[in-house]
Amino acid sequence: MGFKSKHILSIQDLSRNDISEILKLAKKFKTSQNFGKNLLNGKTVVTLFFEPSTRTRSSFEMAAKRLGASSINLSGSGSSMVKGETLLDTAQNIEAMNPDILIIRHFSSGAPYVFSKMLKTPIINAGDGFHEHPSQALLDLMTIEEAKGKTTGLKVLIVGDIAHSRVARSNILLLKKMGARPFVCGPPTLIPPDLKKWDIDISYDLQSAIQDKDVVMMLRIQEERQMQNQFSTKREYVKYYGLTHETLKYAKKDMVIMHPGPLNRGTEISPEIADSPHSLILSQVVNGVAVRMALLYLLGLGGKVEVRH
Ligand code: CP
Repeated sequence: MGFKSKHILSIQDLSRNDISEILKLAKKFKTSQNFGKNLLNGKTVVTLFFEPSTRTRSSFEMAAKRLGASSINLSGSGSSMVKGETLLDTAQNIEAMNPDILIIRHFSSGAPYVFSKMLKTPIINAGDGFHEHPSQALLDLMTIEEAKGKTTGLKVLIVGDIAHSRVARSNILLLKKMGARPFVCGPPTLIPPDLKKWDIDISYDLQSAIQDKDVVMMLRIQEERQMQNQFSTKREYVKYYGLTHETLKYAKKDMVIMHPGPLNRGTEISPEIADSPHSLILSQVVNGVAVRMALLYLLGLGGKVEVRH
């Protein structure tokens, strides 16, 4: 199989075949501890994060180490940008050290795309502004497939702050590409007006929207990206859009619950639901390492990979 894309900036860079190959490879990494060991020996992965991260950054680092690569982690606040160096100079200086893969998280939508135009190094978008978070959507897809045994035809409800969520955008693109049906639900002020063009069902009422869904994905309110308060009170938000025992009474018995993290327990999801047997939240984290191993492997080997099934 040939992995066509040099960079992974958006789900739109990936064909259905690419996605299937990434998931096959990720499953192999997950089930076989020795598979892939030392395959990226001598390679260097650089993570450059301009926003905080617990899961994405550490799982890319863990994935690199499991494949035998070295990793170097640089944060925006720990770089010489605080002394006035520009983003362009920072990027060019990192590239001058000849890394094999650069993983970027940035608060501006499109920043990894700009890097990909300036640099020769393969780039993975680890989340850019409101735009996309492709590795998150891929690990979510792997988690859904594990839980449900398929993707095609599944109804997946994404709930909360859709307007400011790169996770929602990447998941909508990926679920549609793989034959699932995404739906969104949230307060009108947190649903972007342009979503109607995406041919996706929008609901403002969680109790009715949740009724026939196979998967529900809860999202955090991205206060750091909101220009002003977009709902009256937290109490009102929890009442109408929080996932609680009360809301689950309307859901199918076998519906599974996901959340990309970080959780705001007691806001978009109640603590007992986050920790319930329906919750796949920690499985998502487990799969994050395997999916990121697959991405590093495919990009680090220039797309030449053989997975025997
Ligand atoms: N899901 C996610 O991107 O988590 P982090 O912000 O902790 O990386």
